[in-house]
Amino acid sequence: MQHLTLAASLSAAVLFACILYAESADLNSDKQALLAFAASLPHGRKLNWSSTTPVCTSWVGVTCTPDNSRVHTLRLPAVGLFGPIPSDTLGKLDALEVLSLRSNRLTVDLPPDVGSIPSLHSLYLQHNNLSGIIPTTLSSSLTFLDLSYNTFDGEIPLRVQNLTGLTAILLQNNSLSGPIPDLRLPKLRHLNMSNNNLSGPIPPSLQKFPASSFLGNAFLCGLPLEPCPGTAPSPSPTPPPSVPSKPKKSFWKRIRTGVLIAIAAAGGVLLLLLILVLCICICKRKKRAEPTAASSSKGKAVAGGRADTPKEDYSSSVQEAERNKLVFFEGSSYNFDLEDLLRASAEVLGKGSFGTTYKAVLEDSTTVVVKRLKEMVVGKKDFEQQMEIVGRIGQHQNIVPLRAYYYSKDEKLLVYDYVPAGSLAAVLHGMFFVSPYELLVV
Ligand SMILES: *[C@@H]1O[C@H](CO)[C@@H](O)[C@H](O)[C@H]1NC(C)=O
Ligand SMILES: *[C@@H]1O[C@H](CO)[C@@H](O)[C@H](O)[C@H]1NC(C)=O
Ligand SMILES: *[C@@H]1O[C@H](CO)[C@@H](O)[C@H](O)[C@H]1NC(C)=O
Ligand SMILES: *[C@@H]1O[C@H](CO)[C@@H](O)[C@H](O)[C@H]1NC(C)=O
Ligand SMILES: *[C@@H]1O[C@H](CO)[C@@H](O)[C@H](O)[C@H]1NC(C)=O
Ligand SMILES: *[C@@H]1O[C@H](CO)[C@@H](O)[C@H](O)[C@H]1NC(C)=O
Repeated sequence: MQHLTLAASLSAAVLFACILYAESADLNSDKQALLAFAASLPHGRKLNWSSTTPVCTSWVGVTCTPDNSRVHTLRLPAVGLFGPIPSDTLGKLDALEVLSLRSNRLTVDLPPDVGSIPSLHSLYLQHNNLSGIIPTTLSSSLTFLDLSYNTFDGEIPLRVQNLTGLTAILLQNNSLSGPIPDLRLPKLRHLNMSNNNLSGPIPPSLQKFPASSFLGNAFLCGLPLEPCPGTAPSPSPTPPPSVPSKPKKSFWKRIRTGVLIAIAAAGGVLLLLLILVLCICICKRKKRAEPTAASSSKGKAVAGGRADTPKEDYSSSVQEAERNKLVFFEGSSYNFDLEDLLRASAEVLGKGSFGTTYKAVLEDSTTVVVKRLKEMVVGKKDFEQQMEIVGRIGQHQNIVPLRAYYYSKDEKLLVYDYVPAGSLAAVLHGMFFVSPYELLVV
């Protein structure tokens, strides 16, 4: 009998050791790198990493590859990291694809070994106090680079020209100077260089971006901003080599203006008619729409049910001071904060009697459903209590899981998983998408 228990406990011990060792050598080195990172930076208590808990399943902000063999994503937004990013730590995570250290208080420079992790495709470092130059060794896998709201200085490295996979470069509110490199990046969709000290002509490849991508640089010129001194007013006989397409452009513009005038003249009557019809439509709609006194912007989204930037609808009334107060439920693997949510692009999914439902796509393409509760008068305590209950029953199979909520006097938001495709129709029709909160409270 004694032998038997001994054997049993021995095999249990062996099993335990096996489980511990199942963290492969690579994962183990990732773990050591992360521990070294955490150890050298003061941070808030949200960062619950410990050498005795499994990296892939219980470390906040860490996601591993499907086979749990490497760290694949590290997202630590607003966890109170303070000080310089140590080199030779995160740079060792050579399977890392997504790194977000946004909204912390990181200082000094971005260590070159971090920006050059070969697999890294998304780097979010916005809203820190990083300084120094942008490393010239950025990974060629990068598709999303956000260094905005820091104090980077020096020039934009020419290296960026070679990052052909880039879809976004966000550098606004830094102290960058010098010229903007000619970025012929086929996939580039988002560009912001505003509020730096950049100078010289905007390269032709970037003139398709709006002026708001370049504002706040006193010495930048050319489309879409003011013409460069000496080039614009009269077509100069010898245009500078840096802007060869300039005269062609203004010529094209003149033609376009001519055509436009012709069209306008011919279609003037038609246009008037259209405007008249539109006016009637809008008037009718306004009458039908219920008076929503509290909503600050009964603009496009309310009237049309669908608009380009309906995010204004729920972001406008959230006070600056109350940001970062999104409360997540246990079991939620999301790692964004209220600021992310407010900056997400949103699309109205439907309007119900309790409020409007939006599909929100965050900058890292996380998709969630946000429900904005309408004119609900309920105290904070009550609301939080109800949320506690909902959080517990919310994991039921047939209910779209409620993941987080936001409460302020004027604004109550509920965040759910986004359930695509089939269920979307149901969501739209409000059958499937009944908030447990509504069941309880209303
Ligand atoms: C750390 O926090 C995450 C998210 O809050 C949680 O899922 C995880 O269980 C925690 N880990 C430990 C060891 O407490
Ligand atoms: C940012 O860093 C600079 C020095 O690099 C320092 O002077 C400044 O006070 C810091 N700002 C904040 C908000 O910490
Ligand atoms: C960009 O790529 C070209 C060709 O691959 C190479 O010759 C050039 O040195 C690269 N430039 C930078 C700044 O990396
Ligand atoms: C960005 O810079 C502009 C101009 O200097 C300033 O008005 C704005 O407040 C800055 N934004 C942030 C979030 O620091
Ligand atoms: C901005 O750049 C100009 C030259 O382009 C320079 O003279 C000026 O000192 C810079 N200003 C700042 C604040 O760095
Ligand atoms: C770029 O950033 C500035 C400053 O934050 C902002 O005002 C502007 O709207 C942004 N432009 C684009 C195109 O996002």
